[in-house]
Amino acid sequence: MGESRNQWDGLIVGASLATLDGAHGYGAIENGALGWKDGLLTFVGPRDALPGDPITLADEVIEAKGWITPGLVDCHTHLVFAGDRAGEFEQRLQGASYEEIARSGGGIVSSVRATRGASEEELLVQSLPRARALIADGATTLEIKSGYGLDFDGERKMLRVARRLGEKLGVMVRTTYLAAHALPPEYAERADDYIDAVVEWLPKLHAEGLVDAVDAFCERIGFDAAQTRRVFEAARALGLPVKLHADQLSDGQGAALVAEFDGLSADHVEYTSEDGVKAMAAAGTVAVLLPGAFHVLRETRLPPLAAFREHGVPMAVATDCNPGTSPLLSLRQAMQLACTHFRLTPEEALRGATVNAAKALGLADRGALKVGMRADFALWDIDRPAELCYWLGGRLAQAVYASGRRLM
Ligand code: NIG
Ligand code: FE
Repeated sequence: MGESRNQWDGLIVGASLATLDGAHGYGAIENGALGWKDGLLTFVGPRDALPGDPITLADEVIEAKGWITPGLVDCHTHLVFAGDRAGEFEQRLQGASYEEIARSGGGIVSSVRATRGASEEELLVQSLPRARALIADGATTLEIKSGYGLDFDGERKMLRVARRLGEKLGVMVRTTYLAAHALPPEYAERADDYIDAVVEWLPKLHAEGLVDAVDAFCERIGFDAAQTRRVFEAARALGLPVKLHADQLSDGQGAALVAEFDGLSADHVEYTSEDGVKAMAAAGTVAVLLPGAFHVLRETRLPPLAAFREHGVPMAVATDCNPGTSPLLSLRQAMQLACTHFRLTPEEALRGATVNAAKALGLADRGALKVGMRADFALWDIDRPAELCYWLGGRLAQAVYASGRRLM
């Protein structure tokens, strides 16, 4: 008697849903209902279509207003690092370029010094508030790259911190090995030797369960196509998917290269050529737009948006949260910048931070509100979805759930 457990763990009624289920549109459902059990969605539809009185359906029923979207997926971050580079921000405002600063021993390498000098605990403590800020603005899945260690212990420390952040905060963290981010000073003039080391460390870190994907910085100030290819071959030998910092500052044919390896994504892509776009379309490689870096570096060259649309390349949007080019702590803000700078529609931006971002991580179980998907969602204090991209700053998220657990 009375022991019969309600069907679902939770049920929210009254809010509208932007399900993003389907190829176009928000998949909007007004006066909706969202139910979940054991971390997965069990009901997504109009409140009127519920199979009974809400109180009989779930252990907890929440009456809500506003809109519910899938939990945001930040598919490109470098949020684990020590220190900051506000000094370089000031230098750039005086006219120095990102490339000049990098060539004179600043840039990524200065974050490497700070990150190497920090203990794992310190690195965790410094990175936690950044992850928390992203979650507070709706993110429930975070990709986090290494790339400020650039030696075995440093890369390992970063990846361990990334994993620990996910455990501590209750979100999924996907880790990406980005040892081919910059040349560490001890390998000056010996980039090929450094790539030997990068290739040697990968299987060891993978064996520790620390690597979900592999990335590189293919650029004049990073690594060339032949070096990138060697890193990708090492990934392929382990069955790991690849992605690439491609064509950010110049057309290094990065998009075509990552597509050749059936890569999950080509990221930045400001200088990608039409041939690169076609290669991405053929391989199903997602274009990850990073308007935060574009904004902070005051770039003017736009990614080939018309070509992405024409060839059906899915576009994702991410923060690129990093201490140098994109100290951006809100994916919603990245969506805003994608609309303002790249003229994405708010619908494209939301798709870019949910369903297409999930695709950029190779995750098929999230990014839309659909029965059977992970119960990752955010409840927003807005009247229409476009407001997510309209407001600059502010606190719009009223509640954020990952796997059916309320995070805030
Ligand atoms: O995505 N382009 C290379 N990597 C980062 C920048 C990292 C840094 O400057 O610390 C990016 O923009
Ligand atoms: Fe990046």
